[in-house]
Amino acid sequence: MKADVLLGLQWGDEGKGKVVDVLTPDYDVIARFQGGPNAGHTLEFNHMKMVLHTIPSGIFRENKINIIGNGVVIDPIVFKHEIETLAAKGFDISHNLYISKKAHLILPTHRLLDAASEKSKGDTKIGSTLKGIGPTYRDKIGREGLRVGDIMHDFEEKYTSRIENHKSLLENYYHFDYEEIFDACEKEWFEGIDLLKTFSLVDSENFINELLSEEKSLLAEGAQGTLLDIDFGSYPFVTSSNTICAGACTGLGIAPNKIGRVIGIFKAYCTRVGSGPFPTELKDETGDKLRKAGNEFGSTTGRPRRCGWLDLVALKYAIMLNGVTEMIMMKSDVLDQFDEIRVCVGYEIDGEVVESFPYELSDRLRPIYVDLPGWKSDLTGITRTDQFPDELKNYIRFIEDETGVPITIASVGPNRDQTIRLG
Ligand code: GDP
Ligand code: IMO
Ligand code: MG
Repeated sequence: MKADVLLGLQWGDEGKGKVVDVLTPDYDVIARFQGGPNAGHTLEFNHMKMVLHTIPSGIFRENKINIIGNGVVIDPIVFKHEIETLAAKGFDISHNLYISKKAHLILPTHRLLDAASEKSKGDTKIGSTLKGIGPTYRDKIGREGLRVGDIMHDFEEKYTSRIENHKSLLENYYHFDYEEIFDACEKEWFEGIDLLKTFSLVDSENFINELLSEEKSLLAEGAQGTLLDIDFGSYPFVTSSNTICAGACTGLGIAPNKIGRVIGIFKAYCTRVGSGPFPTELKDETGDKLRKAGNEFGSTTGRPRRCGWLDLVALKYAIMLNGVTEMIMMKSDVLDQFDEIRVCVGYEIDGEVVESFPYELSDRLRPIYVDLPGWKSDLTGITRTDQFPDELKNYIRFIEDETGVPITIASVGPNRDQTIRLG
């Protein structure tokens, strides 16, 4: 059996959580492959709203195996909060969540190092979620990280050695006041470690490949989005993992020839949180209108998201990098009240037209737009494609024609039920 991959094609927050939850009934296994609690994946059903940070979005469907893969970084404190929040809502997930022994741990000092690094950058800061992601992946690549499997033996010794090293960096390099925050969270961090020990800690690469050989179907859930990828995003304004499809191979131990469908999801417009270039950004009242209609405030940090029109140059780049076989268009309803909808089909730089994603998205870059008519009607109650306004059909067809990739689902609201399968 091949594994399907679902990932974001923009700057994150495309609606991955909602869609994974909607697709989970079609799969036996859901596995997160990268990122950590910088992610905030929102699901809405039965009048409940849940935001998941580390736990895969398949967790609310019965009899499904959920796996946190080796490519993920786990903060025991956030993990504990997630488990407690779920338990308070009546969800006991202890039997259907498996955690890779090779996933790296976010130490209390990683978060402090993140804060110290951002502070030291001043105006050039990344706009990180400050969850310790960069410093944790830096330790992983620097071969100094601690992994979930390490908590089983001689952990204190390994932990102390890393913490001392981080403290020395905070003190001597960043001159960052850390003691109060560190002391306040270390105890809870160890409570999180104790909680982690109660879960099934597995060699997830073997577990996953066995499941695939038993003909179990698997959906790999991405975090962040392609334009935040460490290699191909707008570096250095990116996250610290490979968010693209290849990240599912390294983050789960799935060989490339075992990847099946690659489902790319995008918003009918664009958003970005944090710093970095954003060619179609609208810093005017149209941007405010999108933010308000789309409730565009970060699920993890609550920051207002920057908003702009759909960017097909960036989308085509993402499709190329991921080998996207089909797309899902999210938040179509957010465009309900626009007379005209703009779509960026190219960039102009110093009088030259560029249709491929350039090395540098400089301030001199100007988007070239095509204007399409809006549908000016409420999509949120629609349940079938024959109820689609012609302008929406036209919008979908335009994107499919430009990208050459079919759109198989359109989402018309945050709820599980507000999802329409096309064709
Ligand atoms: P993720 O990180 O990709 O899982 O996305 P987030 O959960 O961070 O952000 C997506 C937001 O849009 C959440 O608040 C969702 O509840 C909401 N959402 C998802 N799909 C739709 C949709 O089709 N329409 C509207 N209006 N909201 C949606
Ligand atoms: P989901 O999975 C949107 C952004 C941050 C910042 C940059 C680096 O919910 O789509 P980091 O904390 O990784 O060091 O931040 O990446 N970022 C996200 N933006 N959605 C996310 O995740 C993000 N995770 C990180 O805002 O610009
Ligand atoms: Mg999110």
